[in-house]
Amino acid sequence: MCGAENCARKGVIAIQIPRIKILSIFGTRPEAIKMAPLVKALAAEPGIESLICVTGQHQSMLKQVLDLFDLKADFTLDVMTPHQTLNSLTAALYSAIDPVLEQTRPDRVLVHGDTTSAMVASMAAFHRRIPVGHVEAGLRTGDIYSPWPEEMNRRCIDLSADLLFAPTGQSRDNLLGERLQGHCLVTGNTVIDALQLTAQRINKDAQLRGELDQQFPFLQTGRKLLLVTGHRRENFGEGFLDICKALRHLAQRTDIQIVYPVHLNPNVLGPVTEQLGDLLNVHLIKPLDYLAFVRLMQHAHVILTDSGGVQEEAPSLGKPVLVMRDVTERPEAVAAGTVRLVGTSPASIIAGVNALFDDVALWRRTSQAVNPYGDGKASQRIVDTLMGRPVDDFVVGQVQPTHAPLHTPLSEPRELLADFTS
Ligand code: UD1
Ligand code: UDP
Repeated sequence: MCGAENCARKGVIAIQIPRIKILSIFGTRPEAIKMAPLVKALAAEPGIESLICVTGQHQSMLKQVLDLFDLKADFTLDVMTPHQTLNSLTAALYSAIDPVLEQTRPDRVLVHGDTTSAMVASMAAFHRRIPVGHVEAGLRTGDIYSPWPEEMNRRCIDLSADLLFAPTGQSRDNLLGERLQGHCLVTGNTVIDALQLTAQRINKDAQLRGELDQQFPFLQTGRKLLLVTGHRRENFGEGFLDICKALRHLAQRTDIQIVYPVHLNPNVLGPVTEQLGDLLNVHLIKPLDYLAFVRLMQHAHVILTDSGGVQEEAPSLGKPVLVMRDVTERPEAVAAGTVRLVGTSPASIIAGVNALFDDVALWRRTSQAVNPYGDGKASQRIVDTLMGRPVDDFVVGQVQPTHAPLHTPLSEPRELLADFTS
């Protein structure tokens, strides 16, 4: 290779191949987790100039992820306000994102999933006729009010995108059924890339496991862990009161312990601390960074959640999941038998949780590790597509994961707890 100066001296013209300028825009915890492996892969690609804009829709919950994955934002916007409404957030995002597009003039914008940050970023790029790539395209419940507003957000994004990175064959079929303009390919979900990186880091480092476990000094040997997360807007009010009612009832069981890292949304934090704060058997803790949360998922016997990302991660870890929603846009793990919808009625949540703690055969059937959401290569497929290289679709069961098991299998959660309480 000759440097530009040397080449000029020798009378050779150095041709600089222009790099593709990609601006990734994201703003919340799950987007950051799922974009982290992708922006790392973009940065490692010589043909790409990768820029990151974080919108600040989330602050502390996003910073945790940036720090963990060592990501440096090129643009940090500051849109979050306490108790933000969908419309105030949307307006703030348009005003904040547009100057970044004006300044950077990217060849392409990448957004992820279905948040308001992603929807506004895609529309702002569309208004400037900048091509949009949608990572995690094609998820659908078919009900625009559930999840709300995410189902509408993801539809808007898919309409405006010319590259649709569908995580599964089912999501690709949803897109094809809508006859959208964008080109679609099946990549697997980048959340599995992030989970593999993180779980492997935990599994190969006993000292790190010890340090992470010190964050859970309250866990007791001999009690199986029910891990809970919940934050969906459509569950605010009655829904959360019902979820809390169910957890109060379940907390009476002396053979289980409940851990709930509580989302910082005041509509969640308020009712949850008010309703459950006095229970010794319910540990309400601050949102964990991703490393600690993956470790806690490894310890769980059962996971109860309304989160999208957790529904995708837990099956890879072999953890049964009960989903507090009536519909899900992630039907693959339901079909595989590791995820079951229980809605938000207290009776249904209680029955679902009790069944998994009391029926060993049921627990064994639903705790098989399955990988319907990815093989850890989604980010590379996306980068290859952007570079115009041929890419094979992710097909469940066809592409064998090359990674080690995502957790050290132990027959009993009891042993797992003993290893850090002793
Ligand atoms: C948002 C997304 C949702 C995603 C979720 C992931 C929308 C409309 N909602 O919901 O799709 O599943 O993130 O967690 O895009 N807050 C803090 N600190 C933080 C984060 C939030 O204090 O780090 C509080 C603020 O008071 C903020 C409120 O939470 O106003 C709500 O945040 P917002 O992003 O509007 O909604 P989420 O419920 O977090
Ligand atoms: N998560 C985390 N810390 C926590 C709870 C969840 O890192 O205390 C991770 C979780 O593993 C998943 C993502 O955050 O990858 C899910 O985010 P959230 O539930 O906020 O949003 P959703 O997935 O519902 O959009």
